[in-house]
Formats: sequence, structure tokens, C-alpha cells
Amino acid sequence: MAGYLVEDQRKVTTHRLIQMKAEGKKIAMLTSYDYTTASITDGAGVDVILVGDSASNVMAGNWTTLPITLDQMIYHAKSVVRGVKRALVVCDMPFGTYQVNETEAVSNAIRIMKETHCDALKLEGGVEILPAVKKILDAGIPICGHLGLTPQAINKFGTYTVRAKEEAEAQKLISDAHALEDAGCFAIVLEKIPAKLAARVASELTIPIIGIGAGCGCDGQVLVIADMLGMTKGFSPKFLRRYADLHTIMTDAIGHYVEDVKNCDFPNENEQY
Ligand code: KIV
Repeated sequence: MAGYLVEDQRKVTTHRLIQMKAEGKKIAMLTSYDYTTASITDGAGVDVILVGDSASNVMAGNWTTLPITLDQMIYHAKSVVRGVKRALVVCDMPFGTYQVNETEAVSNAIRIMKETHCDALKLEGGVEILPAVKKILDAGIPICGHLGLTPQAINKFGTYTVRAKEEAEAQKLISDAHALEDAGCFAIVLEKIPAKLAARVASELTIPIIGIGAGCGCDGQVLVIADMLGMTKGFSPKFLRRYADLHTIMTDAIGHYVEDVKNCDFPNENEQY
């Protein structure tokens, strides 16, 4: 059994994350979308739990993150918060809830905070969404940025391949990262970009850079929990490390149960009243 590397049992704050970066301590982040998974994830020592809009893919079976609604994200975040004692809980603002204008963005952000009791929000994008970012920060709500491959813009990108390989896009990503830090974001997720570029951003900024497919030069890592536990079969990008094969474990267990029911082995005499 892995040792749970938690030296500080106090509730994780955005300030603590910035301090961890300053102290050279790596940050472990994972997604969760429900109470039971979140309580296991928290108990295993994860520092940040992301209620990702990847719930749209993982929980609802959609092809993209675009269809998930504000009400659905609130439902997931509320369930996660109930299961968490230590980790910082960050909730994604879903597509369409912060891009229209700053007023709508801040009122949706306040609604998520009030109804879910999560600790912070994550928004995808750089300078284009800066007015919304500033307005939400002004309301006292901590924000984690998200640059590189931003899945809410998949229809613009057209593919899920590595972003910012070209100089112009890399330069824009660097200036977006600085703009988000200057605005007051407490962290930035960098998704699927060259490791060298991510390491450069991490070294230039004082706020933590959390990578997914962005190499080991980041200040922390995030993965989608269903992918790292091996529940999703068809998804195997190069950056993904599978820590378990839950797909096989669950299929075997469920198959065994079906067999027992069909053979009248379950329930036995000790399993009835
Ligand atoms: O929604 C999500 O799970 C995310 C991670 C991939 C960072 O944004």
C-alpha cells in the first residue's frame, strides 16, 4: 500500500499552494465528481480536487465538455465538497457561463460559490477572458487559470493534439500566463503543451503551474481520475499513467456477481434475514 505523503493535515488553501511552490513541494491534483470518490481521493492525500467539466465526458458520456450545464456542475461540486476534509476544491465554470460578459460571469461564479461551498473556480482562456477573471477576483473568489489545450475551445482547435508548438502560440501562452498571474489568479493549469515551454512558464511565475501532459517541470500535476484508475479503456494519450486497471477489476467483480445470482449462490443463508 502506498504511503500517503501528507505532512500537513490542515485544510489546503490557495495561499498554502503558493507557499508549496516557494518551498519546492509538488502539488498533487485529481478530478472527482461525486461524494464517494472525493472522500477516497481526499483521504489518499491529494492536495487539490478539481470538479472538472470533464464530468461531461466521464459521467455523462458526451464527446466534449461543452454540453454540461451550470446546474449539473453545481450538483457535482456539492457532492464532492461533502466528501472532502483537507483538499482545496476547485470547480470548473462550464462553457458559456463566463464568456458572454463580466456581469454574467460574476453572477454565475457567485452562484457556484454560494450553492456548492467549493473553495475556488477554474476558467479556460487568457487575455480574452481577463475582464471576467478580474471581476470574479474582485468579488473575492479565487481563480485557477487554464491555458494550452482548452477543451471548451475544441471546435475552434479542431483536434486534441499538443498546443503551442509554434513560436507565436507559445509567446501568446507565456503572455497570457503572466496576465493571469498579474490579475491575481492563484494557479494555472497548462494542458498538453511542450514540456520545455511549461517549465519556462513555471520558472517565470510565482504562482503554481499544474500540468496535464505538460511535463515534469511543472509545480504539480493533474489527471482525470477515471483515466488514471484505468476505468476508461479507449483513451490512452502519451501523458497518461494508469495506476490501476479498474475496468478489468470491476468487470470481473460484476461478472462474478451475475454468475452467483444466476447459479443461486447469492445470497446464501448468512446473507438473508
Ligand atoms: O475538466 C477537467 O478535468 C480539466 C482537467 C483536464 C485539467 O480541466
